[in-house]
Amino acid sequence: MSSLILDVKNYSKSFHLHEQNKVIPSSHDVSFQVHAGQLTALIGPTGAGKSSILKGIYRTYLPSAGRILYHSAHDGCIDLARSDEHQILALRRHEIGFVTQFLHCLPRQATLDVVATPLLQQGMRAELAQEKAKELLDAMNLPERLWHISPATFSGGERQRVNLARGLISQPRLLLLDEPTASLDPKTAEKVMGLIQDLKQHGTAMLAIFHDPNITQQLADHIIELSPPPAHTTLCQEKQIA
Ligand SMILES: Nc1ncnc2c1ncn2[C@@H]1O[C@H](COP(=O)(O)OP(=O)(O)O)[C@@H](O)[C@H]1O
Ligand SMILES: [Mg+2]
Repeated sequence: MSSLILDVKNYSKSFHLHEQNKVIPSSHDVSFQVHAGQLTALIGPTGAGKSSILKGIYRTYLPSAGRILYHSAHDGCIDLARSDEHQILALRRHEIGFVTQFLHCLPRQATLDVVATPLLQQGMRAELAQEKAKELLDAMNLPERLWHISPATFSGGERQRVNLARGLISQPRLLLLDEPTASLDPKTAEKVMGLIQDLKQHGTAMLAIFHDPNITQQLADHIIELSPPPAHTTLCQEKQIA
């Protein structure tokens, strides 16, 4: 059995909408594991809490309950649900990657620089980081004429390729993927699936959501099915008018 990288235990998340006096349950008592060189897929209907779980692990959201035990390369076992922001930022820089559905980039930054950023942040020389960025963009069929301009005006599929290249380039220890192939043509999706397989061989542990059940079947070593949480609850009763 390959080594355990992520052990999510009894994870729950709910959102408090204070102005509406409502609690929106998002995940309830979810447990699963992710191992090195393997892909765990989250499936379930829209609203089942799949994206929120990835955001909880990346700590875009603060979990409401449970433990997210991450086995770091250098710092042993860390509970991501409780660690401080400084530690989270260090892990994002060196060990944990996230390919979200949307690319956030600076309007004037060239595509090559957007993709090379994770390697530059790790201290790699600029020329070498750009070489690696070129290799990856080439592998994803992003036309060379786009490499030196900002992805801000790219089509959905072009942006998604830039986003993926940026997420894969540093070969993180744990990679979170939220519908990474949703706006790609079948041929590019096929290439991306090949790159995901390469990352598995490299030993990256992945937690992923795919819009296409066939892709889930082909890439997943474990599948976790989530069901939508119970309906919204009101925090406190409205006062009765006598
Ligand atoms: N920032 C937020 N504020 C309030 N509710 C949210 C927020 N993010 C997600 N939710 C709610 O949590 C539930 C799960 O959402 P999500 O994780 O996006 O589901 P999925 O990815 O499975 O479609 C939904 O009911 C959604 O409205
Ligand atoms: Mg989602």
